[in-house]
Amino acid sequence: MKRKHKPKGSLLAALDIGSSKIACFIGRVADDEGTFEVLGVGHHASRGIKNGTIVDMEQAEIVIRQTVHAAENMAAGVMKGYPLREVVVNLPGVHAMSHAHTADIQVAGHEITGNDVRRALAKAQEQVVSDEYELIHTIPMGYRIDGHEGIREPRGMYGQHMSVDIHMVTGDIGALRNMATAIGRSHLDITALCVSTYASGLASLVEDEMDLGCTVIDIGGGVTSFAVFQGGVMIYSDAIPVGGQHITGDIARGLTTALQDAERLKILYGSAMASHMDESELIDVPRLGEDDHHAPNHVPRSLLVGIIQPRIEEIFEMVRARLHDSGLGNAVGRRVVLTGGASQIAGIRDLAQHVLDKQVRLGKPIRLTGLPDAVSGPAFATAAGLLTYISERGDEMPAEIMAQVEPGSLLGRIKYWFRENW
Ligand SMILES: Nc1ncnc2c1ncn2[C@@H]1O[C@H](COP(=O)(O)OP(=O)(O)OP(=O)(O)O)[C@@H](O)[C@H]1O
Ligand SMILES: [Mg+2]
Repeated sequence: MKRKHKPKGSLLAALDIGSSKIACFIGRVADDEGTFEVLGVGHHASRGIKNGTIVDMEQAEIVIRQTVHAAENMAAGVMKGYPLREVVVNLPGVHAMSHAHTADIQVAGHEITGNDVRRALAKAQEQVVSDEYELIHTIPMGYRIDGHEGIREPRGMYGQHMSVDIHMVTGDIGALRNMATAIGRSHLDITALCVSTYASGLASLVEDEMDLGCTVIDIGGGVTSFAVFQGGVMIYSDAIPVGGQHITGDIARGLTTALQDAERLKILYGSAMASHMDESELIDVPRLGEDDHHAPNHVPRSLLVGIIQPRIEEIFEMVRARLHDSGLGNAVGRRVVLTGGASQIAGIRDLAQHVLDKQVRLGKPIRLTGLPDAVSGPAFATAAGLLTYISERGDEMPAEIMAQVEPGSLLGRIKYWFRENW
């Protein structure tokens, strides 16, 4: 299905608040295919965020502001002195929940219009509204008209009854309020929220993968989140609060070295798969608490790999168990794409293939031009995909759907998080 994009030349901004880094991309729609030309980027090591949760408001707010300023400065020529006003922001998977619903409406023989579709979606939205969470995505997965399955586009068709299967994603109100507060202090309005892995998938999957069935697994610093795509849409998402920082922690404990040394060892010598070379190869491990870097411990690389491998294996096993429990069955597809900073560890593709028993490839943003090398890797898939989301999937935003339903509708009864908070 060909999707509409924002018009060529539209300026859009995205903010990815991660446990390891915060990234801001300012982009301009470059063509009619949905490609972005990147005008400004900012990124900064996170502070005050743990496993996808803000734990120190002041620290988080400062880093967000620095990151946004850096992106604005880089894009200054194009923004002509206007500060950034609106951003689309990631919703960390640990604060999101997937709901599957079916809504039925009567169409009584007339031609089905956009309004009928919105009426059905609004009906489903009403079912998941609560005081504890806010609706973030309303994604129609497929339609049935008078019992005929597999309809992707009902508009223009005729029938008596229409039902639609809908994937809705909600976000925890507490976490959303904290994010809104931290961002609001930078004088930015949140125009949309998008689940992190959804964005990662939009940035890195090719169309066929999205159509035929593919799972994106984004392994970040503090969260591993995953989303299943099929029929061109996201049909499921989930997350576990474990990521690359836990691997680093394991190394620091296991080799008795400082966290920053453990991080360096992980990146330089780490691997998710053991090889027979590891036994003979010795690596230098600085001793914890000693300034004297001249007398490090020499340990076999196999020791390092022996710490990393079980942790990553465990992460994939948890993902496998969650996917199994999701009840999606075959819809999960045969293919997996890995994104997130921690997907860069050597050998991870083979390990994922082994544990998940699927075809695995490494992903990174593919729909952007002009992206500086430093921010073109898999850790920036979420930030990149947020631009794609706001450009071409605005029709999945609950508030948009509600705003267009006819007067006298549910409008008054549904709380709008965006409106209420600003
Ligand atoms: N070359 C590399 N090899 C292995 N791990 C790496 C590499 N580069 C970065 N990482 C790891 O990636 C992790 C950060 O990934 P990422 O930037 O995607 O996280 P994040 O988006 O900030 O956090 P999250 O999404 O979990 O909230 C860190 O744990 C870091 O150690
Ligand atoms: Mg992330």
